[in-house]
Amino acid sequence: MAMKPKLVDAFNAQIQAEFQSAYTYLGMAAWFTENNLPGFAQWMRIQWQEETMHAMKLHDFLHSRGESVTLRALVAPSKKYSSAVQVFEQVRKHEQSITASINDLYELALKEKDLPSQIVLQWFINEQVEEEALVMEIIERLKLVGSDGPSVYLLDRQMAVRPTPTTGTTA
Ligand code: FEO
Repeated sequence: MAMKPKLVDAFNAQIQAEFQSAYTYLGMAAWFTENNLPGFAQWMRIQWQEETMHAMKLHDFLHSRGESVTLRALVAPSKKYSSAVQVFEQVRKHEQSITASINDLYELALKEKDLPSQIVLQWFINEQVEEEALVMEIIERLKLVGSDGPSVYLLDRQMAVRPTPTTGTTA
């Protein structure tokens, strides 16, 4: 069954938002590298991969429904950060806005009675709960270590061991 044009448009907007997330996090990865925190930089590069995977999951979903993908322009990421905590506060704000857009998309899928869209979006709803919780945990850890050099060093090393996402682009 074909999707309603309004829903296709909203999925394309979400694809843009996920690619924008990836691009934003890649910018943050560069900031961490340039500020001598390679573990955090690695964490952000994994996040860049995760967000790319999110975008591709929606991208492939539209194609599997016989709909058209329209890629949109991205905005250059900021690199004006003053501290690791400030970077992660930005991540939290960004993820909250992504959660809101996923929720809106799900509500539209409900309104349009599009069951396959609802099912694919349920995965994203769970993913957002996990992402927001993870970011909160990192902010708390960063606040705990403060500017204590050895603790920051240890935390940076812990951040580096984040596993690479294993799910493929169609997962
Ligand atoms: Fe794809 Fe971090 O939301």
